[in-house]
Amino acid sequence: MQLKDEIARRRTFAIISHPDAGKTTLTEKLLLFGGAIHIAGAVKSNKIKKTATSDWMEIEKQRGISVATSVMGFDYGDYKINILDTPGHQDFAEDTYRTLTAVDSVIIVVDVAKGVEQQTRRLMEVCRMRNTPVIIFVNKLDREGRDPFDILDELEQELKISVCPLSWPINIGAKFKGVYSIYTHSLDLFTPDKQKVSERVEIDDINDPRIDEAVGEKDAAKLREDIDLIEGVYPEFSRELYLQGKQAPVFFGSALNTFGVKELLDCFVEIAPHPGDVQAQERVVKADEEAFTGFVFKIHANMDPNHRSCIAFVKVCSGTFERNAPYRHVRSDKTLRFASPTAFMAQKKSIVDYAYPGDIVGIPDVGNFKIGDTLTSGELLHYKGLPSFSPEMFKYIENTDPMKSKQLEKGVRQLMDEGVAQLFINQFNNRKIIGTVGQLQFEVIQYRLLHEYGAQCRWEPISLYKACWIESDDKDALEAFKRRKHQFMAVDREGRDVFLADSNYVLQMAQNDFPKIKFHTSSEY
Ligand code: G4P
Repeated sequence: MQLKDEIARRRTFAIISHPDAGKTTLTEKLLLFGGAIHIAGAVKSNKIKKTATSDWMEIEKQRGISVATSVMGFDYGDYKINILDTPGHQDFAEDTYRTLTAVDSVIIVVDVAKGVEQQTRRLMEVCRMRNTPVIIFVNKLDREGRDPFDILDELEQELKISVCPLSWPINIGAKFKGVYSIYTHSLDLFTPDKQKVSERVEIDDINDPRIDEAVGEKDAAKLREDIDLIEGVYPEFSRELYLQGKQAPVFFGSALNTFGVKELLDCFVEIAPHPGDVQAQERVVKADEEAFTGFVFKIHANMDPNHRSCIAFVKVCSGTFERNAPYRHVRSDKTLRFASPTAFMAQKKSIVDYAYPGDIVGIPDVGNFKIGDTLTSGELLHYKGLPSFSPEMFKYIENTDPMKSKQLEKGVRQLMDEGVAQLFINQFNNRKIIGTVGQLQFEVIQYRLLHEYGAQCRWEPISLYKACWIESDDKDALEAFKRRKHQFMAVDREGRDVFLADSNYVLQMAQNDFPKIKFHTSSEY
């Protein structure tokens, strides 16, 4: 098969949702359709969310399992599908943001009873920043929930994207009878059964009397009324707008009952984008260029604390990745060869000889890689990673074993390379501050420092609201600001200036008092 054909058949995406909306269940059902797994209940990668935050064994188990389920590749018809898993726990949101840099599209799962929840909103912001095409799956139609029209309104308002229903439910909850596909003009009847796929009724169009026979006259009339309304209110589906990230097709179903999942998958493979052009710092890279390029979007530490090896996840952006070929690691300007790169098919890791754009290759690593690193066949090229966002929580990290300060330093450095959290150094007192999105990460860091590096640390509270990256065209103004706020100035790992605001009020005052300074809550501006 030619490179162009390999690219055309690939669909690399992530499923994202607020915890409990049904991401794991949907992933599992997609894997069932792809023949990648044979029993329901096989994907338990994000069950960490249901355990107490300090359950270390669970965290460790989770880390182990999630290497296997980090990428789930399988063939579906002519398509090669790569699902990139994202952590279920919201304290690992950074990880999810980064995974979104490696996908070509996403499926968002929303619970019909809960509508748009906080985590969904935040993840959508990242998708919007990157114009990632989005399909929405409204889940749990077998349960009582909200009116589907209300849900559509909410999706549009909260996710700030124009929506276009491609399927429509006939009642919900106890009276849920099935889904009419606006996309294929077909009708699927609901049979609540976890293993069986729904029953399809052959119909010509929405006016077909067979609909009345299948769901009863009253529900058929209501369905026609709804479809009429939808046609009047919502725009027609435009693949172009979807691909630009401006319109989100919406499907309804019940992942647990495998209902509406196949319809979603069939439409997804048809309309979702294959790997395309990627903007690097220097130029736009086309997927079908001969020369290999790719970037590291995730680093996963090994389960075994005695071997400090990691797996770096590389997304292939262009050309063909070949085992043992010499590649340039642009940041270090070294030539590296990879003898045992792994691919992820049907939840198994196996050594691959070739990989194509859209594929994810796992590369065993002993500390060469950092998140965002670019690999090329030789070209000097830098892929742009996702910016760092200001953390939500901050703590001073203190060494509690003076004999192990080297280990602590190394551990902190490597964990930051992995993207577990962000490190800032306060310029006033030289103390190290770790910033995270959730409490759980502090616990993970402390645990891993001890078990993988033999280093001990303790946390000291620091009350901060946000870390703001600052810049100004006026050098003197910048210096004046830094002098005035010297107690609150820090540098990030790249040496960029960061202002540590201890409250929203202080930040607003600083913005008022120093109009020449720009304050950014993300590191790329
Ligand atoms: P997540 O990955 O987004 O966090 O959600 P997950 O798939 O784990 O689903 C959360 C809960 O919702 C699970 O129940 C799951 O069985 C249930 N669920 C998923 N899809 C549907 C659906 O279509 N209908 C209904 N009624 N329930 C659904 P749980 O009891 O928390 O977990 P489990 O013990 O079943 O694993």
